[in-house]
Amino acid sequence: MAEQATTEKKQRIFSAIQPTGVFTLGNYIGAIRNWDTLQKEYECIYAIADLHAITVKQEPKDLRANSLRAFALMLACGMDPKRSITFMQSQNPNHAELSWILSCSTMFGELSRMTQFKDKSQRHADNINAGLFTYPVLMAADILAYNADLVPIGADQKQHLELARNIAIRFNQRFGETFTVPDGYFPKQGARLMSLQDPTKKMSKSDENANACVFILDDKDTILRKFKRAVTDSDTVVAYREGKDGINNLMTIYSAVTGKSYEEIEREFDGKGYGDFKIAVGEAVADHLEPVRTEYARLSADKQYLLDCMKTGSEQAYRITRKTLSKVYRKVGFLDR
Ligand code: TRP
Repeated sequence: MAEQATTEKKQRIFSAIQPTGVFTLGNYIGAIRNWDTLQKEYECIYAIADLHAITVKQEPKDLRANSLRAFALMLACGMDPKRSITFMQSQNPNHAELSWILSCSTMFGELSRMTQFKDKSQRHADNINAGLFTYPVLMAADILAYNADLVPIGADQKQHLELARNIAIRFNQRFGETFTVPDGYFPKQGARLMSLQDPTKKMSKSDENANACVFILDDKDTILRKFKRAVTDSDTVVAYREGKDGINNLMTIYSAVTGKSYEEIEREFDGKGYGDFKIAVGEAVADHLEPVRTEYARLSADKQYLLDCMKTGSEQAYRITRKTLSKVYRKVGFLDR
């Protein structure tokens, strides 16, 4: 009979972010600012996925700088190395090691069906390397090595998570219960932000129009400028209405950073025009992001602290994953060292 659990064990969350680019306001509002709550309710493990980054060409000195920046940004956004495990993926060799073993339980056909592989091989036609192809296996290793219960991911990573689940299930069936089969974690309050230049499109960091997207390290002047130039319709009344995509998007953003409801916003700007509203949204966003920018500047000035945090984090990560790997080695039939 099933045993009654006497102590409530926290569920474990694993996620990773590639060290490319700075987070957008959309990432921040949709996911990152909830990290604090996440760390209270779950055991969180977060990595900077530098091994994944080299599946596309990287200039070594840029990769090094971007990795350090991504790590600092992760801490500045509230991942707390005292409460969670924060580390660089390349500093824990167990990820790459498990990836090899899992690749022998992954079919060529499955990997060929990954839409991100197909997209990326088109975009980088001169560099369709084997790592780009086996990228999802490494991602499965990242997750399964920790026996993570939940994995916060964006929509573009759903197919990869599905593959990780299938690999876990298949391995468990063949070798006996080994891995936790992970689920996706999708935050509830995921307001979807639209481009400031074309509010029918999603706000994206890769938009060619620099004014379309707000980055969380943008300074106040830049933020104000982007909102002043935001594309809206020819009406003048600040109100949330079907078809007024530009104003609706600004209202969503203003509501997300001030906590005000649409009705409250409509009342606040009653009799005022779009111009005043755009300035108010810009100011509110700049104020909301100010603590992150300040913390990022503070952390960036203390490289030694960042390196120390990485070291501690990778040691913790190593210990957890080594246990999984020893078990896996036994299950597949390797001799003891
Ligand atoms: N592939 C993910 C991305 O580009 C990053 C990533 C690597 C990841 N390993 C992971 C995300 C494990 C979740 C779990 O967004």
